[in-house]
Order: sequence, then C-alpha cells, then structure tokens
Amino acid sequence: MRPRDAYAEPYRIKVIEPIRMTTKEERLQKIEEAGYNVFSLRSEDVYVDLLTDSGTPAMSDAQWAALMRGDEAYAGSKSFYRFQDVVRKITGYEYVIPTHQGRGAEHVIMTTLVKKGDVVLGNMHFDTTLGHILLRGAEPVNLLRQEGYAVESNEPFKGNIDLEALDRELGAHGPEKVPFVLMTVTCNSNGGQPVSMANIKAASEIAHKHGVPLFFDCARFAENCWFIKNREPGYEKRSLLEIAQEMFSYGDGCIMSAKKDALVNMGGFTAMRDHEVYSKAIEWVIPFEGYVTYGGLAGRDLEAMAAGLSEVLDDDYLEDRIGQVAYLADLLLERGVPVITPAGGHGVYVDARAVLPHIPQSQFPAQALTVELYVEGGVRGVELGACAFARTDEATGETIYPELELVRLAIPRRVYTDRHMLCVARAFEGILERRSSIRGLRITYEAPVLRHFTAKFERV
Ligand code: F0G
Repeated sequence: MRPRDAYAEPYRIKVIEPIRMTTKEERLQKIEEAGYNVFSLRSEDVYVDLLTDSGTPAMSDAQWAALMRGDEAYAGSKSFYRFQDVVRKITGYEYVIPTHQGRGAEHVIMTTLVKKGDVVLGNMHFDTTLGHILLRGAEPVNLLRQEGYAVESNEPFKGNIDLEALDRELGAHGPEKVPFVLMTVTCNSNGGQPVSMANIKAASEIAHKHGVPLFFDCARFAENCWFIKNREPGYEKRSLLEIAQEMFSYGDGCIMSAKKDALVNMGGFTAMRDHEVYSKAIEWVIPFEGYVTYGGLAGRDLEAMAAGLSEVLDDDYLEDRIGQVAYLADLLLERGVPVITPAGGHGVYVDARAVLPHIPQSQFPAQALTVELYVEGGVRGVELGACAFARTDEATGETIYPELELVRLAIPRRVYTDRHMLCVARAFEGILERRSSIRGLRITYEAPVLRHFTAKFERV
C-alpha cells in the first residue's frame, strides 16, 4: 500500500450534506437522554458517524443517473436484467435473486437449505447470519484459524478458515447434516479481515470432496479482492474483476448485503449455480421479499446496485478506501490507542480494555469508551463487547463474557475526508488525558434478545 500522502481521493465532490459540531455540554445532555446508548442518538447530533459502513456510502454520479432508468414494472423489468447481467459477470452464477438487504438473502437461503439439527460451518458467521441459522434450529460453527483471534498480528489473511478443522467437521457430520460451508469475505466479526485465495480454493476442494457446496457471504467481496491482489503472491498483475471471478468460481452460490460493496443505501441478493436450489428458493422469495425480479426493491434500487457493482472493482477507489481505514488505524496507534492489526477493510477496532484498564468487564468498558468518544468529539462508534455478546450460562446462571471488548469505528465509503479521521484521533487524545476518571456503566433496561440496540445505562 502506498503511503497515504502519495495520492489523493480519486473523485471530486459534487454534492455535500452539512454536518454540525455540537458543544461538549450539549453532547453530555444528549447522551444522558439517550440512556448512554449511541443507537438512541439522533444523527443530526453526531459529527462523524462511524456506527456502520452499511447502507451509508455516497453514491457516484453514475449511480444517481442510473436511478432515473429504473423500470418499475412488477415483473421482468429492464432494471432486473441489467442487474442480473452484472452479477453474472462478476460471480458466474446463473440464477440471481434480489432481496431487500443482506438478511433477506440469508432468510431465503437458510429457509431453503437449512433444517433442524443441521450444522453450518464457516470461517466466522456475522450476527444476523448466526441468528438465521439458530432460527432454523441448526448450529452455527465458526472455524476461523487461531491467529484470526489475535489483537496484534502481522498475519495478512486473518479471515482464513482452519482447513483441518473444516475437513474434520465435514467428516464427522457429512453432507446430510452440513447444507453448505459459508465463507464470509471479508470477515466482519473479527475486524473486516481478508481471506486468501489459496484458503478459499482449499476450502472449496475440501467441501466438494465431502459433497457439500460452498457459499460466500460476500458483502465486502471487492475489499477482499483488493487484499488478495496486494498481499497474495501471484495476484499482483491480475485485474480485480479477474480475481473476483476466480474467487466466485470456487463457490456454488452467494448471499450479499449490497449496502456495503455494491455502494448503495439499500439492497441485497442471492445467486447460485444450481437450478434446483433456485426453484426452492423462489418459493420463499415470493411470500417474503416480493416477486423474483424485484425482491423487495424498486427498479431504481436495482439500477443503483448494478452501477455500484460495476464501479467497485477499481484499484484507485479501493486503495483510497482501504488506505483511509489504515490511516485512521495509524493515527490511533501513534497516539497509543491499541487497535486490531493489521487494520481490516472497513473499520478500525479499538481494544477498549487496554484504553480503560480500570473498568471491569461487568461495567462495560467498550460501551463506556463509545460514550466518551461521543462526548469528546461527537464521534459515533459501536460497542462490540460485553453488552453485545455476554451470555448467561443456563446451568450456573453465571455471565460468560466475550474474549474481546472492542469499539468498532466503521468508515462509510466515500463519505468522510482524512481531516474527519484526524478529528476522531483528537477525540481519543482527549479521552486518554482523562481516562483514569472515566467510570463504567450499569444497565437499567435491557431487551431479552439483541439488547445492545435498545439497552439503557447509567454511570456507575
Ligand atoms: N453479512 C455480513 C458480513 C454483514 O456485515 C452484514 C451486515 C450482513 C450480512 C447483513 O446484511 O444489514 O444488509 O441485512 N452488517 C452491518 C454492519 C449491519 O454494521 O456490520 P444487512
């Protein structure tokens, strides 16, 4: 990767959306009113919004222009066929079904292929994917290689699956109980870490040897392809499109949240090679998503996705995008803020316990850091720690805490400049200065499932 100051953004800005910096006093009041949960803040009270990179990109002029071409026919719209052509070109998969977003595609594929008692193997399932597997009465199993869990590392492909464990699990359960192997590229749950082509190819050979298909959760496939091109020997001279085509050639289908690498604000799809799977899938698409050629989306949404997918496999765009994530990680490391290394494709993950070592996990250090980041700089990140992931052991009633207490700073695509990243780094400087006085949090309200979205807290 070239140094950040060796190049500039490969685009000009044509439209802007004003944002407003609030005072610290205002933010203290807003966060208290929000019950110390940043999900309850209004976006107008946030200065740099790094809650998610999902559905938050700035669309290009080509995408906005494409919206006007939206064919809103209920069935067989021109927009669907344009979208299908682009997906087929990139993936090589014959059958393409649009869905309203990623989890719509998950719902369709899980209902079609997963039955009670099944085991779904993968490198590391994303939360909603995990939820859908559990809803089917099946077991999600993560087979990420051990180095994928290390906070500090020089490992280039921390999203790789453990191939020996995959072979063993497939041997133990067989094709009757494993409907498919799911490779998430990049791997969101451990920091947007990439998976190497060699690992994908080997996983595909192992899955196929056992008679089990391989699917991709390819929300961030373009970022993964960029990492392959820039980190895996033998791919330096290949085009990103060729790399994507090779990657998908090892699979049998995919599910995608288009809100990431299709550069749109809403949308998703599933695609596959097998006609039988397609026929069964559409039985679920029609009642839940909509007719097979629109899947819960307007014709104009399909146009924007087609245009986004056509422009995302671009070296300049991806170097700038992934370069900005690495730039923010470097700014934080320079200031002594520990982050997961190497930085992944879409965000920087801060080790909250290392910033606030005096706060025990029972008092939500990552949530406390998320709150302080907002108070200090109007920056919204998201907690991925005890609030999101702690579980109660049913036998003993004890709380089982997650290994890591992270704050994710997910960077929207083409939205913020490097000076916004400097603002984020400065907010951390302020926090570090007064960190010993920062207190933990206690929950005052929580929902029975997915509590982190709506929980309320008070300061300890
Ligand atoms: N798969 C992955 C790898 C994801 O990161 C997400 C969403 C989904 C599936 C679900 O897609 O939101 O379109 O229904 N990730 C978002 C995030 C929410 O913030 O990381 P969706």
